[in-house]
Amino acid sequence: MLFDSHCHFTDPGFDGCRDQLAEEISAAGLRIVDIGTDLKTSQAAARAAEDFGFCFAAVGWHPSEVDRLTEELLAETLDLCKDPRVVAIGEIGLDYHWDDAPSRELQQHWFRRQLQEAALLGMPVCIHSRDADGDTLQILKEEVFQKRGSAAGRTRVLMHCFSGSAELARQYVKLGAKISIAGPVTYKNARRNVEVAEALDLKDLLIETDSPYLAPVPMRGKQNRPPYVRYVAEKIAEIKGITYEEVAAATFENACSFYGIDNGGQL
Ligand code: NI
Repeated sequence: MLFDSHCHFTDPGFDGCRDQLAEEISAAGLRIVDIGTDLKTSQAAARAAEDFGFCFAAVGWHPSEVDRLTEELLAETLDLCKDPRVVAIGEIGLDYHWDDAPSRELQQHWFRRQLQEAALLGMPVCIHSRDADGDTLQILKEEVFQKRGSAAGRTRVLMHCFSGSAELARQYVKLGAKISIAGPVTYKNARRNVEVAEALDLKDLLIETDSPYLAPVPMRGKQNRPPYVRYVAEKIAEIKGITYEEVAAATFENACSFYGIDNGGQL
């Protein structure tokens, strides 16, 4: 069995083919977490988790969306956590890649606020970080890692679609975070991602698709789908010189334990 630790199953990109996709996911014995990026997508993810036994949900506000965020909207979003199939807060973090993105100050404010709320709720967090390595690490240190011993310090942290260096990945693992590897590890120019997979112990790795984006080779250029997470597992097996089954089993178990899901992929 495989666990796609981060996808967007309710993304409009799957409208019209979602039922067929659900059948494929069920047939493959796959488990997925559908990740929210604002209130509407968080509600859709929570609904999908109700409707499909293979699906769990994460709710939260992506850094690119936070110019619309208010305390009221955040409270409404986090209220979804009352549902036991909502298993994490995410995706939250910093994204400095886009020129028209919300200001860095605003992104940092809402990143901190969501980390603080996750700590109060005792929920794990899925972190999105793009072109913001230093600030993401600093804020996670201040809000989580340096608070070990208190409730905030117990927050489990997953670095989604990790694109940093092997050294940074090692640093995160040392601080207690887990690293999730996505489709780009299969790309020809993905030296850094390959080094990350090489450097880390299997016990610290999760795998994901981030579908419908970032399809792995040999599907690159097509729409990505959760079942393609197997290409990520195959690539990690090749990089580490171990079997596909070992990678599948370990990353499945790691995802269940990160999200607090019983090891058969059920709650
Ligand atoms: Ni995503």
